[in-house]
Amino acid sequence: MKKIGVILAAGLGKRMNSKYHKVVHHVCGKPMIAHIVDQMQHIGFDRLFVVVGRLEEQVRDVLQDRVTYVQQSEQLGTGHAVQQVAPHLEKDSVTVVLYGDCPLLRHEEIERLIDETVAAQATTVLTAVVDNPYAYGRIIRDAEGNVARIIEEKDATDEEKKLREVNSGIYAFHTPDLLEALGKLTADNAQGEYLLTDCIEHIRANHGIVRPVVSADPDDIANVNDRIQLAAVEARMRWRLLTKHMQNGVTIIDPSNTYIEADVTIGRDTIVHPGCTLEGGTTLGEDCVIGPHTRVIDAIVGDAVHITSSVVLQSEIGNFASIGPFSYIRPGSRIGAEVKIGDFVEIKNSILGAGTKVSHLAYVGDSEIGQRVNVGCGVVTVNYDGFQKHKTWIGDDSFIGSNVNLIAPVTIGDGAYVATGSTITEDVVHDSFAIARQRQTTKIGYAKGLRTKLAQKHSNEATENGR
Ligand code: UD1
Ligand code: CA
Repeated sequence: MKKIGVILAAGLGKRMNSKYHKVVHHVCGKPMIAHIVDQMQHIGFDRLFVVVGRLEEQVRDVLQDRVTYVQQSEQLGTGHAVQQVAPHLEKDSVTVVLYGDCPLLRHEEIERLIDETVAAQATTVLTAVVDNPYAYGRIIRDAEGNVARIIEEKDATDEEKKLREVNSGIYAFHTPDLLEALGKLTADNAQGEYLLTDCIEHIRANHGIVRPVVSADPDDIANVNDRIQLAAVEARMRWRLLTKHMQNGVTIIDPSNTYIEADVTIGRDTIVHPGCTLEGGTTLGEDCVIGPHTRVIDAIVGDAVHITSSVVLQSEIGNFASIGPFSYIRPGSRIGAEVKIGDFVEIKNSILGAGTKVSHLAYVGDSEIGQRVNVGCGVVTVNYDGFQKHKTWIGDDSFIGSNVNLIAPVTIGDGAYVATGSTITEDVVHDSFAIARQRQTTKIGYAKGLRTKLAQKHSNEATENGR
């Protein structure tokens, strides 16, 4: 049977106190609504609709053409929101409705709901038993244990408010049952809104069954209405992600001080030390040692790489490379296998061949460096003339002495040797030696005389000033 998904996201979430739509706020590095769409696409829905209202463009920016957008121009309630999608719903299908503010929901829970709906020919509601049911709709069960009604906080009696089984806002319907019930909704309640929850009673009146499916983990249904709940959900998801990595064979020395975003992958026997933030689509290989205090964003890191107290952005790092402490690898860099990048080195948009070393205090920008090159301490590729960026090429097995300036565009051939302190403005062909600095002059005994002369001058000046 076809599966149709409907995600409600027309309400703004005023309690977030934000200029951004609630569902585009990030949880573990990814917009809340993207988490939900990822989970749904994991199951494979034939159609996915997102009901949008104000700030719709922010939701579109996040989801692009992954879903079909349906407008709800006035927010007249969750039932009214689903009514906007009704004309698009095919009869021979199961429709899953959920809200855009529940980023912890896992696909397994949605699948359980769908399976139960198909198997039992019933409508299903994901419920959870929580310690503090405040603000949730309460589940009223009938004698058989099915859902009789869902009663909203505002409509509940004191007795009903004590019920701790709550509505997650996640449902699976046989589409004809849903369509029929939507047609019967009225705004006759304390909110004056068309409540999706009222569909339950209409379905039952039409001889339908509504089954509760109790969530395996009440966190799955946690919804975000304000930034306090946002932080709580973040903490919960963070722990889930850390747990997954540890189960996959990653050692995390201090999980409470490690931040790994949702789409990061890490190989077996990699060790993550405290204070690390691994973000975006970062991939780490096996046997790496990361941190302490390292930030890696959208990088592809090979096996057995060591990165200490460094920042790596949108770059590739080859196997057995060693980065840091205090290195800054900026976007567009490809660092080869067994490369060593040491303290206070900045690499930007550059390619470094295997076995090359940039051990200390250097800037390498817009450069292509071959294999087994030694880039000395304090080397600067001078890539910017105030107007444009220029490239530097350095061939295999060459040696760039300390404190060399390479004024780009410039090419250093294979096996060349550039003497320390040189400022290189012209190409150096392969296997040659280039030196570009003043010859040294040493004047024997001159320092002593100079000191006497200077001392005399200072004392004369002091006398003139009456000191
Ligand atoms: C809703 C449920 C409640 C459940 C809770 C779980 C109803 C009537 N109540 O309450 O039983 O326990 O979720 O989180 O369904 N929305 C629209 N258009 C509207 C109104 C809302 O798109 O006209 C969207 C909102 O953007 C939001 C979602 O629907 O994503 C839920 O709305 P919200 O106002 O947060 O409902 P709750 O009061 O939390
Ligand atoms: Ca809500």
